[in-house]
Amino acid sequence: MIRANRKAIQIEYAIRDVVVAAQELERRGEKVLKLNIGDPCQYGFQPPKEATDGVVEALRRGLNGYAPSQGIPEVLEAVERYERWRGSEVPKENLLITAGVTEAIQFTYFSLLGEGDEILLPDPTYPPYITYAKMLGAKPVLYRCREEEGWSPSEEDIRRKITPRTRAIALINPNNPTGALYDERTVKLIGDIAAEHSLPVISDEIYCEITFTGVPAPSTAALLKDVPVIVYNGMSKIFLAPGWRIGYLGLSDPEGVMVEIWDGIMRQARARLSPSSIAQWGFMRALEGDRGYLRDFLRKLKARRDIYVKHFSEMEEFDLSVPEGAFYIFPKIGRRSPWKDDREFVLSLLREEKVLTVHGSGFSPEGGAWHFRAVTLPPEDVIEESMIRLERFMRRHENE
Ligand SMILES: Cc1ncc(COP(=O)(O)O)c(C=O)c1O
Repeated sequence: MIRANRKAIQIEYAIRDVVVAAQELERRGEKVLKLNIGDPCQYGFQPPKEATDGVVEALRRGLNGYAPSQGIPEVLEAVERYERWRGSEVPKENLLITAGVTEAIQFTYFSLLGEGDEILLPDPTYPPYITYAKMLGAKPVLYRCREEEGWSPSEEDIRRKITPRTRAIALINPNNPTGALYDERTVKLIGDIAAEHSLPVISDEIYCEITFTGVPAPSTAALLKDVPVIVYNGMSKIFLAPGWRIGYLGLSDPEGVMVEIWDGIMRQARARLSPSSIAQWGFMRALEGDRGYLRDFLRKLKARRDIYVKHFSEMEEFDLSVPEGAFYIFPKIGRRSPWKDDREFVLSLLREEKVLTVHGSGFSPEGGAWHFRAVTLPPEDVIEESMIRLERFMRRHENE
């Protein structure tokens, strides 16, 4: 047998791994209620018209060649304006269009993390932040977020976990999977710790406008003026087109200490040629367009979240920290018996009730254990039906 790189065959992606079990059921003709995937398009949402028109326009104009590696200049300018609207000054020279935030994470990591280096991540976190660090031989170090306080990060734990090998502190605001929204004070606190240790902050703002407070999540680069900030954002969530694979990376570097890191990022960008030119054009039109559609989207998400909140408040086996952003809920499974762990809980729920969620330990073995994630994207009747099935499932196993 030709052996694969050990690092490659150890890769896991919980969100997609559970789908295999669901597909097996579907092959047998079962109908599965899917609460597992953070893709608005799977639940009937579509990108704004301007965005789609932008792609059509790009095709008509014959934008079929490679784009510049950094991004199409007009698109970079639109992102610069968007960041300014967010309150931060990230000049277009410091912006890079990527094939989604995922590619931005890969470029950043490869430039920043060597073998044995450490990166501080929220616990729980979006899994690729862990996976890509491991692929590079670096160590993902998870800092505690306190569920009882809306999953807010523990200052003490961040401080305790900084070592001479720490290369950056990352935050995801709002967070996947918890839906936690960090306020300005929390972001500044992370910035203060980073400044004390001369560390850059990585800020994933892909859900920034998906909040239930009436205002977007704060821009980290706008708030932190004495540390470098790498911001990620893109088309996938706010603009409802994750399949276009368009995102961006922006660097705010007030003291010019990130020149080499940026060079490392840009070298990778050149080596991969460019992201899709037509999708970039659609992204530009989306950025320029009216985001009125978000009002309707947020109204629906909030109503759907509230259905979950109501059901979970009635089931004493669960604790739910009410999410203030993104489109997830991350309840804690209080009664553990008869399941071995949260993965077995999720797989049993799938097998017995045909409701597909994602096990929390897939987002982190510690903070995610004995939790599961469900999305707030499905129509209300699907959520209602799923909750009825979950209640029935819990009753069935009550005395085991
Ligand atoms: C926090 C977070 N960052 C990044 C991504 C992926 O973004 P993209 O589709 O732009 O690669 C996701 C997708 O769920 C996410 O939850």
